[in-house]
Amino acid sequence: MQELKDKIKQYGTVLPGNVLKVDAFLNHQVDPELMYHVGQEFAKHFAGRGITKIWTVESSGIAPAVMTGLAMHLPVIFARKHKSLTLNSDMYTADVYSYTKKTTNRISISKKYVDQNDKVLLIDDFLANGQAVEGMMEIADQAGIEVAGAGIVITKTFQPGANELRDKGVEVYSLAKVKSLDNGQVTFDTDD
Ligand code: G4P
Repeated sequence: MQELKDKIKQYGTVLPGNVLKVDAFLNHQVDPELMYHVGQEFAKHFAGRGITKIWTVESSGIAPAVMTGLAMHLPVIFARKHKSLTLNSDMYTADVYSYTKKTTNRISISKKYVDQNDKVLLIDDFLANGQAVEGMMEIADQAGIEVAGAGIVITKTFQPGANELRDKGVEVYSLAKVKSLDNGQVTFDTDD
């Protein structure tokens, strides 16, 4: 998605540890017009697949997920994130390890908002090691519902998440694929 790649080039900065900081339009300040276009792009790609709900994880996944829900006329559920959470029979839960932050969070979705015939589209801002998407897949598994695919705003293809998800049979659709952040430079995949 050219508009997104232009924003990354213009405003993205590279931090030590291969972290792409995009606080100017995605992770802190949010560019609603860009997010609106992101939602339309995911809606176009995943149209006609019988999707019933959009899932994401708080907090940075919410903006692109809500815009996708708007474009697809579907409800959006964001998994809540907790440092620890006592197991509760009203919730589906999964543990998500963040390699970036070296912490484990338990994510949860209330059973109240899950139907047996749901088919969910997973949306997230970044795909790096794939832990957040895998946590949502674990919850879908517990609920016995289908995952239609994953829509990712920015995928770091030099980290293992995208390939691991594909190996598990999940379609990953990324709007910007970052091949490298070496020397402080953002390089996109050539097929992007
Ligand atoms: P994952 O996102 O594939 O699960 O991999 P990882 O465990 O490495 O990511 C942990 C957190 O760091 C995630 O956010 C993820 O979105 C974020 N992250 C990973 N790489 C980058 C990067 O290059 N730039 C930025 N800005 N974020 C990155 P989170 O802990 O779920 O936080 P949030 O959604 O509350 O912001």
